[in-house]
Amino acid sequence: MLTMTSLTLTLQRQDLMPGTQLIGAEWRAAADGRVLEVTDPATGRVFATVPDGSAADARAAVDAAVAAFPAWRATPAKQRATIIKRWNDLLLAHQEDLGRLISREQGKPLAEAKGEVAYAASYVEWFGEEATRANGDIIPAPVSGRRMMALKEPVGVVAAITPWNFPAAMIARKIAPALAAGCTVVCKPAEDTPLTSLALIRLALEAGVPPGVINIVTASRERTPEVVDVWLADGRVRKISFTGSTAVGKHLARHSADTLKKLSLELGGNAPFIVFDDADVDAAIDGVMAAKFRNGGQTCVSPNRIYVQDKVYEAFVAKLGARVAALKVGPATDAASQIGPMINARAIAKIDQHVRDAIERGARVITGGKRLQGPGFESDNYYAPTVLANVTGEMQCSCEETFGPVAPITRFATEGEVIAAANATPFGLASYFYSTDVRRIHRVTDALESGIVGVNEGALAAEAAPFGGVKESGYGREGSVHGLDDYLHTKYVCQGQL
Ligand code: SIN
Repeated sequence: MLTMTSLTLTLQRQDLMPGTQLIGAEWRAAADGRVLEVTDPATGRVFATVPDGSAADARAAVDAAVAAFPAWRATPAKQRATIIKRWNDLLLAHQEDLGRLISREQGKPLAEAKGEVAYAASYVEWFGEEATRANGDIIPAPVSGRRMMALKEPVGVVAAITPWNFPAAMIARKIAPALAAGCTVVCKPAEDTPLTSLALIRLALEAGVPPGVINIVTASRERTPEVVDVWLADGRVRKISFTGSTAVGKHLARHSADTLKKLSLELGGNAPFIVFDDADVDAAIDGVMAAKFRNGGQTCVSPNRIYVQDKVYEAFVAKLGARVAALKVGPATDAASQIGPMINARAIAKIDQHVRDAIERGARVITGGKRLQGPGFESDNYYAPTVLANVTGEMQCSCEETFGPVAPITRFATEGEVIAAANATPFGLASYFYSTDVRRIHRVTDALESGIVGVNEGALAAEAAPFGGVKESGYGREGSVHGLDDYLHTKYVCQGQL
């Protein structure tokens, strides 16, 4: 008999849900008192409110960040590092509560949510260490009597705009390098998941981040443009770091041109996952399970197009179908759940539209292919993990990011053909391939047009790695030494008359 183990998502520390936004030293309501309701995607019920911030709040946040910048920039790097590392310790000490918050507002299973907290903390720890290594250069002068130097300086006030799929990790990997570089921050989390960000920032203050160094404005979908427009137009905001859709990324790039802000844009993907005839098929199945079904497929590096070569095609489809059919879908309150609800009704509608379109155009449903409703599913946000075979390039699921638990499989014959298909997209965030032929591994790595390549590996993200895309997947890198550099300017100093 199956028994369900129930998990509680109630917080041990209720003050990690402040219900207010932080501007300067003050946790406060929106200037006009409006509120934004936060919905649990597992039940469809509202369970919290936060301020629905406005242009006035956005301006106040910049004023506070500008005022705090000189002192934070002048704080010795070692002292900043100590504060950031204390923030890491607090994130880990509150892993259970933060995990519960993520599960509650984002929907992912609790074990995965707690994994995200550890992942977020790894960036904070990394940048705490990097803070003391923002080294410049002494350049050998081409003429005598001169000393030439390249100094690293913080860019200034940074606007961090974060998505809902990794509400802790995305805040951490934008704000930690900003703090490490000596920048101050105004931040706007996604409207679906504001609570985790507020909790993280509360802990940052407890770690010793001074008031004004981090400011957060929460806002509804409707009011987000007025908040972001203030930051775009304000010349005092010197950088925007954004993770989200390519359409919004292009808008930010266009509208920050007047003040020539520095930009880091981590945008949409359409990742190919290629399995060659010479691959270890079981390893490739493990890889696709990890890469595709983590976070219910709501990950910008999720494989969106799976290409499998002729000889291993049938075996791969059958094995993947069996593994996916066994996945347990349910709310995070059920300890057995491996896939939670999708974030909202729009997400479900898009996933279902992609599946319907593929079926109409000739795809074969191996498993799934439908919404999950009825007993055990309290909201309409659940979708059956799906494997589609006989998928072709013109289907919507091949051309656009589905962002859900759908694995569409396309058959191919030659290496040249699959490379052309993999690159036939405006996007270039991640790609994956499985092969045991060392010459092919080098050829295909070089040929793939993407910022990240997984070779016989499905889980690629790590704090020490440069994460980011090429083409319309954006520019800038998060994590690694490059992730710090994106928050620094280089100042060339030439001293003469020596
Ligand atoms: C990300 O950090 O954007 C993705 C995390 C993951 O791949 O799990």
